[in-house]
Amino acid sequence: MIEVKDLTKNYGDLAAVQGISFNVEQGQVIGFLGPNGAGKSTTMRILTGFFPASAGTATIDGFEVHQHPMEVKRRVGYLPERVPLYEEMTVKAFLTFVANSKHLKRNAIKGEIERVLDRCGLEPMVSRTIGHLSKGYRQRVGLAQAILGAPPVLILDEPTSGLDPKQIIEIRQMIKSFAGDHTVLISTHILPEVSMVCDHVIIINKGKVVTRDSMENLTAKGGTSLEDAFMAALAKDGGAA
Ligand SMILES: Nc1ncnc2c1ncn2[C@@H]1O[C@H](COP(=O)(O)OP(=O)(O)OP(=O)(O)O)[C@@H](O)[C@H]1O
Ligand SMILES: [Mg+2]
Repeated sequence: MIEVKDLTKNYGDLAAVQGISFNVEQGQVIGFLGPNGAGKSTTMRILTGFFPASAGTATIDGFEVHQHPMEVKRRVGYLPERVPLYEEMTVKAFLTFVANSKHLKRNAIKGEIERVLDRCGLEPMVSRTIGHLSKGYRQRVGLAQAILGAPPVLILDEPTSGLDPKQIIEIRQMIKSFAGDHTVLISTHILPEVSMVCDHVIIINKGKVVTRDSMENLTAKGGTSLEDAFMAALAKDGGAA
């Protein structure tokens, strides 16, 4: 469902992503794990067509992201690291706006908004102004706009960052509940988050993939915990970024 081949991104002299390759099969929930500055957000921005790669290719559901941006946008729900929300809009007005910009069929919009409000536990907030919502509810609005239109692929960039423990648990459960309907790539630097939510993990460090495995394999190998696998993966490449 997601195919990334030799992807590279340079910001001036900085090689943020250095020839990353990986595949994600349909229905998998992949944790994209790496320390600060590893290149997680950069890779995700390329996958969602936010900006082009310097080299390499990325394909979603058979469409190369740079060559077919519209087809890709239709197939990907994206929760960016910092979600741009329209502070003065109500939740309902914002989701209606997103539904229109995703070109959902007019007669499907009402039902689809009701579906995502329900999936994200947002009904009590539907008439609230976004600027007045707590951070947890703002993040739910971010998730709701991502799943609107039921795209087959979800790309979630640190969906639980900055939330309180209760909200973290609720958002993780919500993401788990999306798994049956979507292929999910979720970035984090929180190890337990990967074990709780994901069935596979890609560990990246300094712009390179260092490990790619199922959670089952990673934690089964001689009783190695994900933590050990993570530290070993980072040590392979001379420490964290
Ligand atoms: N727009 C930009 N211009 C210049 N450098 C950038 C830009 N965006 C990211 N970088 C740099 O590229 C590298 C990778 O950044 P990226 O945001 O992809 O990492 P990340 O894995 O998402 O990190 P974090 O866990 O902190 O979110 C970092 O060194 C970062 O400082
Ligand atoms: Mg990031």
